[in-house]
Amino acid sequence: MSEPWVKMVTAQTPTNIAVIKYWGKRDETLILPVNDSISITLDPAHLCTTTTVAVSPSFVQDRMWLNGKEISLSGGRYQNCLREIRARACDIEDKERGIKISKKDWEKLHVHIASYNNFPTAAGLASSAAGFACLVFALAKLMNAKEDNSELSAIARQGSGSACRSLFGGFVKWNMGKVEDGSDSLAIQVVDEKHWHDLVIIIAVVSSREKETSSTTGMHETVETSLLLQHRAKEIVPKRIVQMEMSIKNRDFASFAHLTCADSNQFHAVCLDTCPPIFYMNDTSHRIISCVEKWNRSEGTPQVAYTFDAGPNAVLIAHNRKAAAQLLQKLLFYFPPNSDTQLNSYVLGDKSILKDAG
Ligand code: DP6
Repeated sequence: MSEPWVKMVTAQTPTNIAVIKYWGKRDETLILPVNDSISITLDPAHLCTTTTVAVSPSFVQDRMWLNGKEISLSGGRYQNCLREIRARACDIEDKERGIKISKKDWEKLHVHIASYNNFPTAAGLASSAAGFACLVFALAKLMNAKEDNSELSAIARQGSGSACRSLFGGFVKWNMGKVEDGSDSLAIQVVDEKHWHDLVIIIAVVSSREKETSSTTGMHETVETSLLLQHRAKEIVPKRIVQMEMSIKNRDFASFAHLTCADSNQFHAVCLDTCPPIFYMNDTSHRIISCVEKWNRSEGTPQVAYTFDAGPNAVLIAHNRKAAAQLLQKLLFYFPPNSDTQLNSYVLGDKSILKDAG
């Protein structure tokens, strides 16, 4: 243990976009939601976090760098993830390099963490989902924790709620859970990324400005003040989750698109029902909605679904490549390449992967 060795693990985790939204916590410390949610995991080649975690007896404190800049680990969310993984650490032995770490050693050893997002900096896309999922996954591999991805998702959840869904690829459901300690509030895979591989996801980056109200603050205010949220969480979402799972399993695009758009619109309605009201979408977002709605109606059957998170950027899910090409053509007409709106397209992605260990 006195030799100045360094042991490292690198992992890569894609981001995810909810089609049935998580909005509102029943426990803010454990990050337990007021309803189930369902998301799609995006292609890690374009939108992912890569995190390297290292341990060495020469490290004197836990430290973290995000996109090359050191950040503080004192926040409760990082501490919760580190504590939970350390509690599950197991013995490791690397005979070749003469490294032996026992379960007890992990309590004294410090880690260094370096995390990078490969998202175009101007994308304005939430990075906390991929970031915390990747951190937890990489730490678990470094510390030889035996938990499976669902169990790890319950730890990533304590970093950022939406992060729990990034441990899996394809379509993922976050079960809100029932028990007080949050151990059953975890993610499971609905279907993998091959099940509905012809879907194409287009992200229209309307603004890369940082949002005025963070998701954490916004959902806190909604829980405090919105009566509509209570109706949504109790009456609407439970039924929608069942219908959404069915439409995904049956690859029923018409039903999938209807539910995705309706849920996005209700999420933004709930934001508007918050006191003071929260406006995440802007005029351009509204124009995109009108354009998609008009096109879907004119086709007789939906070709594209839209969903907006806590910001004005549109996530558009096209039925297939043909619909995606037509959609891009329409969007380029309204938002030519020199306009402020940037268009990027993605496919469904795979789960977190271990890239390297040494
Ligand atoms: C609108 O997971 O970022 O994207 O749990 O407070 O970190 P915290 O919030 P976060 O909220 C995401 C909200 C959303 C919907 C969703 O991803 O389900």
